[in-house]
Amino acid sequence: MKKRILIILALMFGIASAQTIKSPNGKLALKFLLSNEGTPAYELTFNQKFVIKTSRLGIELKDQPSFTKDFSVVKIDSSQTYETWEPVWGEVKTIRNNYKELAVTLQQADKRIIIIRFRLFDDGLGFRYEFPVQDGLKYFIAANELTEFNLTGDHKTFWIPGDYDSNEYVYTTSKLSEVDATFGKNVDEIMLKRLIGPDAVQTPLMMKTEDGLYINIHEAALVDYTAMNLIIDKKTFGLTAHLVPDAIGNKAYMQTPCKTPWRTVIVSDNAADIIASKTILNLNEPSKIGETSWIKPVKYIGIWWEMHVGTASWNYADINNIKLSLTDWKSLKPNGKHGATTERTKFYIDFAAKNGFDGVLVEGWNVGWEDWFGQWKENVFDFVTPYPDFNVAELQKYAEEKGVKLIMHHETSASATNYERRMDEAYRFMKQYGYDAVKTGYVGRIIPRGEHHDGQWMVNHYVRVAEKTAQYKIMLDAHEPVRPTGLHRTYPNWLACEAARGNEFNAWSEGNPPEHETILPFTRLMGGPMDYTPGIFQIKMNYFVPNKKEHVHTTLVKQMALYVTMYSPLQMAADYPEVYERFSDAFQFIKDVAVDWDDTKILEAEPGDYLTIARKARGKEDWYLGAITDENARSSKIPLNFLNKDQWYAATVYADGKDAHWEKNPMAYEINSYLVNSKTVLKLKLAEGGGAAVSFKPAAKEKMKSLKKY
Ligand code: NOJ
Ligand code: CA
Repeated sequence: MKKRILIILALMFGIASAQTIKSPNGKLALKFLLSNEGTPAYELTFNQKFVIKTSRLGIELKDQPSFTKDFSVVKIDSSQTYETWEPVWGEVKTIRNNYKELAVTLQQADKRIIIIRFRLFDDGLGFRYEFPVQDGLKYFIAANELTEFNLTGDHKTFWIPGDYDSNEYVYTTSKLSEVDATFGKNVDEIMLKRLIGPDAVQTPLMMKTEDGLYINIHEAALVDYTAMNLIIDKKTFGLTAHLVPDAIGNKAYMQTPCKTPWRTVIVSDNAADIIASKTILNLNEPSKIGETSWIKPVKYIGIWWEMHVGTASWNYADINNIKLSLTDWKSLKPNGKHGATTERTKFYIDFAAKNGFDGVLVEGWNVGWEDWFGQWKENVFDFVTPYPDFNVAELQKYAEEKGVKLIMHHETSASATNYERRMDEAYRFMKQYGYDAVKTGYVGRIIPRGEHHDGQWMVNHYVRVAEKTAQYKIMLDAHEPVRPTGLHRTYPNWLACEAARGNEFNAWSEGNPPEHETILPFTRLMGGPMDYTPGIFQIKMNYFVPNKKEHVHTTLVKQMALYVTMYSPLQMAADYPEVYERFSDAFQFIKDVAVDWDDTKILEAEPGDYLTIARKARGKEDWYLGAITDENARSSKIPLNFLNKDQWYAATVYADGKDAHWEKNPMAYEINSYLVNSKTVLKLKLAEGGGAAVSFKPAAKEKMKSLKKY
């Protein structure tokens, strides 16, 4: 039966040539095909069943014959690679990079050549188009990419609408045929104008088939090209690439030798394998930074949440009815609410020093915030002029004495040209005042006008920022960039990005539903770490501002679990220090939890439902476990067989309180300590919208006596 289907498909496509490779473990098979018309295509199977049916490949060029048909195969090279490498920081100490490769050189009658390169791993496929140096092809404009991913059915999918400028959406779970990207819970009027259309969705796109196969489509190594959205054909369940255009409608400007990013399809019958996959990282180039000892994972606090909640402001002056430029802010009166004051920053530095945090982020320290939003002008910020109540030199001295680093904030208000002009001066200023990490931001419409956050111009901008910060030995956290594609392998100073709907939405919007954090690891995080800013313990905002209705949509304990489930080498403890002082026993977990890991075990996983992960702290024997659930309560039994067999551990279990519930009773928690070992089976109970967090530390002799065995 299976064979017949394959033959029928082959006849429909009219195959002139075909070549197959298998993944190292033999489960995945990739077939390259060339039709009688000379159109390239591919198929992907998992255990002999189709994941991707015959899907065409090709690129249309502007004002030149396209790379879509009339090809003949010149050469097929195959090879295999088995290697390991060590990331500068990461979820595991060593990464295996094992794949089979097929490189197909195709030629058209006019002698123009392209190479389609496939790499097949045990957990997925990567392929890209390459354009070697040749006569008759030097410059070209990619007008469209025709790459297809023809799926086998109406899969369940976790999607956000196709949008050239934002990924800060709530995910919708529906069948492919039910996707309506211009309708739904999180699309307001402004967004609606931006959306590509009802059938367009963003990647990473997560899907599940009816027979339990998990499929994730994204891209790797997005450099000097434009991001890919996907258009769904709701009748055939085919997806086609849709590239983000530039200001005049072109997609990508190319000059040989050049290549597209890798298109990736990660596949498994086990959801945990999707999250554990290193294929996207492996498809990226090795680190371009030679000496990396200055790059260190960071746990930080910051003058930040209070602005989102509204008890403090980024701006120093009253902003009613004023139009300011960079120079005339001096004439204005302070509004009495400015967050980034010298005094408050010292309080944060003290708190960081006392509790072992590496850094303190301070937003709103520099002039320009009175008139930064919905901007018209290009020069909003200069990145070097502090407000009069923020004494940089004094704070540098203070922070240094306390062994804490200040973290710089560069909100560009999406004026990337302004940022590029001022970047060197801004980084020199940072170095002068002892900063070694910067959080950038791109809120608003991009300048150069008409460009998009996810287009080629901006894609190159983010990479330029990563390269330039690296030259200055500065670590980078980009907010509102294009969603990541594993470039942190190449630029390990680029610790994290936001590029999705972060915790901040819970402070001033309808927020993120309880399932949000169970979906992000399968979608946004496939491309790289996210600066989600977890750790909000004061769940309801009316504690700070009377009648404020916004609240976090998790329990307090789930906020703790996120330090383990939401991987990032840059983790913020986002709540007010005053809140952590109120809950100092629970805060202990955030103080303890590592931000860099030797090993990671995905213990339970189902997108949209739950996730349990255990990780071993880098260079230590300590383990940390995080478990989260969606709006449904959950209990689970976790065998601790990942622990060292010859060791007893003191386990501290932070659990949702008896009647905890994300909405009705979010802040109830219990803390218990036990002696455990690798034979222990831990029982966890998660409330609706809840979680569990556990630390495991090798038990010292005194603990062996004082703690009860689990
Ligand atoms: C949006 C960022 O995500 C947030 O973290 C930041 O505080 C604001 N922009 C202001 O720059
Ligand atoms: Ca944001």
